[in-house]
Amino acid sequence: MSKPTLLAISGSLRKGSFNRMLLKEAARAFGDAEVVEADLALPLYDGDLEEAEGIPASVQMLASQIKGADAIVISSPEYNKGIPGVLKNALDWVSRVSEPVLKNKPTVVISAAAGRTGGETAQFMVLSCLTQLQVRLLPGPAVLIAAAMNEFDESGALKNVRYKETLSTRMQALRAEIG
Ligand SMILES: Cc1cc2nc3c(=O)[nH]c(=O)nc-3n(C[C@H](O)[C@H](O)[C@H](O)COP(=O)(O)O)c2cc1C
Repeated sequence: MSKPTLLAISGSLRKGSFNRMLLKEAARAFGDAEVVEADLALPLYDGDLEEAEGIPASVQMLASQIKGADAIVISSPEYNKGIPGVLKNALDWVSRVSEPVLKNKPTVVISAAAGRTGGETAQFMVLSCLTQLQVRLLPGPAVLIAAAMNEFDESGALKNVRYKETLSTRMQALRAEIG
């Protein structure tokens, strides 16, 4: 089989984002793959904009990346005990594309946040939204990186062996899911 394509989606736009670091670790744990990084810097969903101009090119790009992916990993921070707006906005836009590109797509959701729960509430919300979109969500031990500012070394690697192992378990299961 040729290299699988893994789409990495960060719920944080920040360059120095811990969720982006976590996605890099997730991609490493997934193994040899074509890794594509999604860009969620999209216009705000607006029904008037959609009606006047159709689906924006940036959203079409995201939808085609989703369509072309064999598997998806989403890493999200938690904002005020909830899903970050950029991620919800992206899911809302993608749900407006004519083809249900997320349907049955093997997906793992992980999170990193400053607080003690590692973004558990946000992760739960992301999972809930993805259920509505009929994503094939892979269950498993939750990857919740708490106090994320203390958990990555200078190279961006996870320091804690337990976190590494759990992430590896999830990403190997994702790989197995695509055959
Ligand atoms: C608007 C805002 C709200 C936040 N709310 C929470 C929160 O509810 N729980 C939490 O653990 N951290 C919260 N944080 C801290 C983030 O977890 C922290 O900034 C994290 O590093 C963001 O992810 P990133 O590094 O991938 O950008 C919040 C940060 C911002 C900017």
